[in-house]
Formats: sequence, structure tokens, C-alpha cells
Amino acid sequence: MYRLIYTGLFALTLLASGCTSGSRPGEIAVIPQPARMTVGQRSFRIGAGDIRTRIDTGRVSNPEGYRLTVGPEGAEVVGGGEAGVFYGLQTLEQIKDPEGYVPEIEIEDAPRFPWRGMHLDVSRHFFPKEFIKRYIDILAYHRINVFHWHLTDGIGWRIAIDRYPLLAERAAWRRVKDPKAPWIGLELSDRSRRDSADTYGGYYTKEEVREIVAYARERHITVVPEIEMPGHSEAATFAYPEYACPTAQPGSGIYCPGNDSTFVFLQQIIDEVLDLFPDSPYLHIGGDEVGKEQWHACPLCQARMRAEGLRDEHELQSYFIRRIESHINSKGRAMIGFDEILEGGLAPNATVMSWTGFEGGVRAANAGHDAVMVPLYYVYFDHYQGQNPCEPQAWGGYNGLPRVYSFDPVPPEVEPDKRHHILGGQANIWTENIRTPEHVEYMLLPRLAALSETLWTDTAAKDWGRFGRKMDRQFDRYAAQGWNYAESALTPFVAEQHFNGNGELVVRLAAELSGYPIRYTLDGSVPTERSDLYADSIVVREPATLTAATFRGGRPAGCLLQVPGLLNRATRAAVLYAAPYSAPHTGGGDTALVDNRYAFKRGDDRAWQGFRETDMNLTLDLGSEQPVAGVWIRFFQHLSTTSVMLPTRLTVWTSADGVNFAVSADRAVDPEEDSEAVIRPFDLRFPAPVAARFVRIRATNRKTLPEGHPRAGGAAWLFADEVAVY
Ligand code: ACM
Ligand code: ZN
Repeated sequence: MYRLIYTGLFALTLLASGCTSGSRPGEIAVIPQPARMTVGQRSFRIGAGDIRTRIDTGRVSNPEGYRLTVGPEGAEVVGGGEAGVFYGLQTLEQIKDPEGYVPEIEIEDAPRFPWRGMHLDVSRHFFPKEFIKRYIDILAYHRINVFHWHLTDGIGWRIAIDRYPLLAERAAWRRVKDPKAPWIGLELSDRSRRDSADTYGGYYTKEEVREIVAYARERHITVVPEIEMPGHSEAATFAYPEYACPTAQPGSGIYCPGNDSTFVFLQQIIDEVLDLFPDSPYLHIGGDEVGKEQWHACPLCQARMRAEGLRDEHELQSYFIRRIESHINSKGRAMIGFDEILEGGLAPNATVMSWTGFEGGVRAANAGHDAVMVPLYYVYFDHYQGQNPCEPQAWGGYNGLPRVYSFDPVPPEVEPDKRHHILGGQANIWTENIRTPEHVEYMLLPRLAALSETLWTDTAAKDWGRFGRKMDRQFDRYAAQGWNYAESALTPFVAEQHFNGNGELVVRLAAELSGYPIRYTLDGSVPTERSDLYADSIVVREPATLTAATFRGGRPAGCLLQVPGLLNRATRAAVLYAAPYSAPHTGGGDTALVDNRYAFKRGDDRAWQGFRETDMNLTLDLGSEQPVAGVWIRFFQHLSTTSVMLPTRLTVWTSADGVNFAVSADRAVDPEEDSEAVIRPFDLRFPAPVAARFVRIRATNRKTLPEGHPRAGGAAWLFADEVAVY
């Protein structure tokens, strides 16, 4: 019935032998980390019949808390409520080894925050009921207790409303101009057109919504519905244009608060929605990113402002939100909205969901309102989680696993006696770039594990190093469930590089989750288990392509790191610019293009060197005459969100004396239609090698942004990160 767990000396031996991946023996790999845990020496096989559960509010005060005891009599879970029992059983499952053994243990545990949220945008792309249930399963596994269901937005209205059937039936847009996704460049669609061409269609029937709410309830998750207003409502104002300002274009996407019937419309929708979500104390009304121009131009809105003594459109927004709030309150529910609901004065009972940063939540809490923290630069899971070019197109910034883990919903600016107003935190997944369930899971996992621990475990008990070791087991659990998790945190990257005194390039590698072997080659071949093991640096002495991979369980994990052109003929050449590069995108200065540093697929990566409206026109002095066979150069383009375009033409001249130059390569560049971020390498091989000391390169700038670009007619930029001469 029991066996000894080897601790102490054995653990030290393992560490000394360099095997640091995975849990240390004796370390219990529970995510999220329990508040208090005492582990004994023995372990016991625990079958289904050996587990007793009960609720005892006298022993466990938090309804989500539990005590778990494993001993010779089996396992006992005492919960402060049903949720506590549920979480206690999850912990028991996690500490069980594959043969069913559990260490002798005593755990006392309860969450730090009552709001542990996860959001999903089903408007930009629709996800069917079956996937929503699977999503809820994943959330429950991570002790998320709020599912914020973003049911409406510009692209589509995803919930059936009996009184206004066109919302769901007609307002799944085929094409829409969405402020968050201008590149989609879509137009309005009705159902008949949608059937033929639309991949954005779909909505949940009321029966499906009830089924999902019940499914979530069984897993101790409250579904908080979101009905966006007054903005992000293109779909709705397309179906029912009478509730937009009369002066606005059809499908303008902003409701008219000058029109009383707008409030009747929204209140009737709210009543039907609240009826479907009996468990949710809240209705989320969005409230974010509302352009005020339409209200400024609308006679009804202007009349409303005069009648109500509102000084500006921000106060009109506040009027709108307060009126909606009083209706929600009259139904016994509370309103929550994004931090823009603070504009023009916060509604009396509102809870603020702070997404643009922490500030909105801090202001709300210090003013005595509840707040939930969802700051985009920590917990927007539609942002990148890895810097390797293998990562799928993502939105916004870089929220890797350590970044998410470092999130603390209670910043020091919250006054000590107001901290209880921070209900917790949440991560959001907006789906402009995410079309499939597999992709949603990839963005969610493993970052949800970091969120889970950060929202459940007290700060003092958090430990990134231990969390990283626990992730080894967590990956296996994900694999066993068949969930599509990302290994981005295992992918190696160049952490630092410099030239040493001998002119050699010293490269240091890292991965966010350390402790796994990284193997590399310098000849461009894919590393195998027999390739060189990375220790603390790689010294590159001759031209090389560095290729590195992290190995986990005997196979490469994550993506390959590939760094081409190390120590090529241009490395550390003098670069003479005929026209200067343009601030602020200097790439780091005159050596940026020849420093063997490569940029990430984002316009704000500082390794990009930019040229605004001008051609890139520079001459490399290689220092001595050499046989030159060609030039390799990389450019960036990201049509949807930047003014950076590929060049239209690339020309290379060579010269032995720096005076007489001859054309060695010249080619037009086909435009790249893809609106997503692209890094395009160009290999300009000469017809035959040329003896040259000077290499002149011109990349012709498009100069003006073309038709169809969100800023058509504006100045175009060129972005390059590296030039190699071979
Ligand atoms: C938001 O991301 N606009 C709430
Ligand atoms: Zn109006």
C-alpha cells in the first residue's frame, strides 16, 4: 500500500548530474501552487474507493477552499463548498503518479482572488458549441471560475434574440471595417450572401446558450455574457439601422443615445440575455473604443446633451452607460465594462475591467468601485507568446509565459484599504487572427497555467523557477488530454551576442523555460540528439548559419532557431549611408545592418532600420578586395497595422576602388499582397563572382502607401534588419 519517496540525497545527485528539467524529486507538481503543503515520506495507492469528500464550512471558510489529506486511510477532501471539493479532487489527481500512488500529504488551499477569468471573442471568428464546452473544460482544469463570453462585436452578433431575430440571422457580417481589424476590409452581408461566401457566420441558439451555461455551472464556472455597447456594434446597427444616429452611415457601429427607442431596444435585448444567464451576477457591456464623432454630428445626440446639461460627448457616453446600468441594476444584476466607462464619470455601481493598463482599475478601486485587471501587455493572449518566425500571426505585443506569470492584479497604487475592490484578473483572447479551435488552444496553453497560478496563489508562494519545473508535468498532462499547447517557451532564442577581442562572434542562447538541453549546428543542418550541446556560449569563428533546438523527451520541442549569415563578408563592414535612416527606427545606428542581429516579426522590434519615404542607399566597405558572389538582405512589411512596405526594386553595384561601380544585380520586387506581417529575405546572387571591396545597395522605396492601405497616400517606410555579403 505504500512505498518510500526518495528525497534529499537523491535529489542532489540528480541535480549534480545536470538533469534539471522536470520536477525535483519530492517537489509536488501541482498547478496552481497550493497555499500550504506538508509532504511525508510514504506514498499510498489511492483508488476511487479510497477517496472521501465532504463540505465543512466550519473547517474551511472559503467556499472555493479545501483541505486534502492523504494517509493510510486513503484520501479525504474537505471543501468549504462544492467548488472547494472540486478543486481538492483536481489537486489529488495532479499529485497521483501514473501507477496511482499519492504521497502522504496535507494541503490547505484557497484562492487569492474570487474573479479568475478567461475571455473568448466569438464574434471576430465564430466557434461552435462543442468547442466552447471543450474551452470550459480547459478553463476548469486551471481553476478559472469566470468565462467572459464576448458574444457581440463589429463582425458578428452571436446570440439569438427572439424580439430582434435579424441580429443573429442577418448580422453575421461578411465584410466589415472594424477598428481593431481595419485590414479585413469587409463589407456588410445578409444571410443569403453569407451562405455562399461567409466563413464568419454562425450564432448560438438560446437552447445552446442554456446548455453551455449549465455545462459551465457543473464545472464551477460562471459565464458572464458580454453585449457590446455603445460601440463595436456594426453588426447590430447593420441589422437595425434605426438605433444608430440618423446622420451616420448604415452599419456605423455606434448606437444613438439621443434616441429613446435605442434604450428600449437595448433593454429588451438585455432582459432576454439576463434570462439566459441566471448564474451571472454581471452583464458585461463592453463600452470600449467608442469614437465620438458620430454623436458630435447627430442632432438627436446634441439635443440630448443640451437637455441633460452634458458638456461633451464623453459625458454623453457616461449618460448612456448610467442609463443602461440603472436598467441592469433594476433586474438585480451588476454592470461591468471596460475602462472607457470611466470617461465622463463612472456609473454609480459599475465594476471596471481594466484593459488599457492598470490605471483604470486603480482609479475605480480607489474610488470604492470593484475592478478586474486585464492589462493588455500582460494577459492579452492574442498577443505573441514567442519571438520565433514560426509563431502564427498575432496581435499587439509580446506576452510570453514569464510575462504572464509576473502579472499581479494588485499594483502598489491601490490604497491598502481598497485592495479588496480588486476582484481579480483575467486574460482575453480576441480572434481577429484566430480562425480555428486548435489555434485558440495554442494561444491559451500553456499561458493559462501561468495565469492560473498568478490568480490562485498568493504572491509570496509564487516561484517562477519552481513553476517552470512543474510545467514539464503540465505539458504531459496537456498531451494526455489531447489539448493543442504551444511549446514557444521552449524555443531557443539569441539572448545576447557580442564580438570578442579576436573578432569572433560570441552568441548566448536561452529559452524561457530553462533546464532543457539545447543542441546546435553551425553548418545549417537541423540539430539531432547527437549535435553539440549548448553550454554557456557559442564562439563563431568563421561564416556560419546557427541552427538550434531545445530537446524534450528525446525530440526537438518548440521551433528551430535559425540565424543565417553569421560572420559573412559584410559583418562589421563600414556602412556609408547616402541618405540617412529615419528616427525613431534607427535599428541601433550605423552598424545595425551588419551586426548579425535579426528582428522579430513586429514593427516595433528595435533591430529594424527604417527609411521613411526615401530609398535605402548605402555602400559597404569590406576593408579589402574579396571575391563576392552575391548579397542577401531582409525586409519587413506589415500592411494591416504599419506603413512598412517591401521595396519595389533592389539594385547592387560593386567596385574595387570605390569610384567606378558596375551593376552586379538588379531586380524588381513583386508586391506582397498579404496583409499580415511578413519578413522577406532576398538573395541577389551575381551571374559570376566579382572581385570587390565596395558593395553598393539600393532598395527603392514605394514612397507612397497604395490604394487599399488603411493610410493610403501617406508616407511609406522601408524596414531592413540585416545585409549579408557572400
Ligand atoms: C479591448 O481590447 N478593446 C477591450
Ligand atoms: Zn445620435
